[in-house]
Amino acid sequence: VKKVRTRHFQNAKANGIKITGLTSYDQLTAAIFDRAGIDFLLVGDSAGNNVFGFDTTLPVTVDQLIPLTRAVAGAVKRAFVVADMPFGSYETSPDEALHTAFRFMKETGAHAVKLEGGVRSSEQIRRIVSAGIPVMAHIGFTPQSEHQLGGHVIQGRGERIEQLVADAHAVEQAGAFAVVLEMVPAEAAKRVTAELGIPTISVGAGPHTDGQLLVWTDWAGLTTGRIPKFVKQYANLAQVLGDAAKVWTEDVASGVYPGPEHSYDD
Ligand code: KIV
Ligand code: NA
Repeated sequence: VKKVRTRHFQNAKANGIKITGLTSYDQLTAAIFDRAGIDFLLVGDSAGNNVFGFDTTLPVTVDQLIPLTRAVAGAVKRAFVVADMPFGSYETSPDEALHTAFRFMKETGAHAVKLEGGVRSSEQIRRIVSAGIPVMAHIGFTPQSEHQLGGHVIQGRGERIEQLVADAHAVEQAGAFAVVLEMVPAEAAKRVTAELGIPTISVGAGPHTDGQLLVWTDWAGLTTGRIPKFVKQYANLAQVLGDAAKVWTEDVASGVYPGPEHSYDD
């Protein structure tokens, strides 16, 4: 199989072929999504919610994400693996950002890093790219700044589209190879996609972008509780696993499990 490279993202945009991405936090799902032909896997700091059980992504550390990223990178044959840089690991300076990016590249086998912020993160992006590391940018709603943004609020509505467009151009200028647009109106994402030379990846940004990305646990119906409007559930894993657990409990209680076929002879 031919590995996905940054040029695949560029070619996809040029040829109008949609790019697909899912998050992944472990080797089992990474291998499944890789075999299914998902183009890229993001080891998101959404692991904070979906693996570690935090309420936000803010507490997530580089040391927590490194083993998850190594597991995902080690499991793929084709997919492009993107390591998410957590809150507090890149904002202080371009040097800090590059230091963190080096850790992910050297310790995990990821193929690129992602960080949040447009204009405000452009010097960080420039520095990382200058060291030969591809950067996926992330603008619109940026969960690491949810307290500043006032919660999960749609970005780039009305006149605020100008800030979104400025952020998009800033990350392209800084050398990002792609940009995630999270929770922005479809029309705003359409304009950004038309204006940029680099591909745009939608997470709740409508159909006019060059690619689509979802958090796998939301997409597969493993998340219980509130999921955002933009998520379409492609499976119901919470139901499947919950039912399996109930049946197994009953089988153990009644002695149906284990049967002779699950037991060892002398
Ligand atoms: O951490 C994550 O899962 C993300 C995507 C939702 C963009 O950053
Ligand atoms: Na993230």
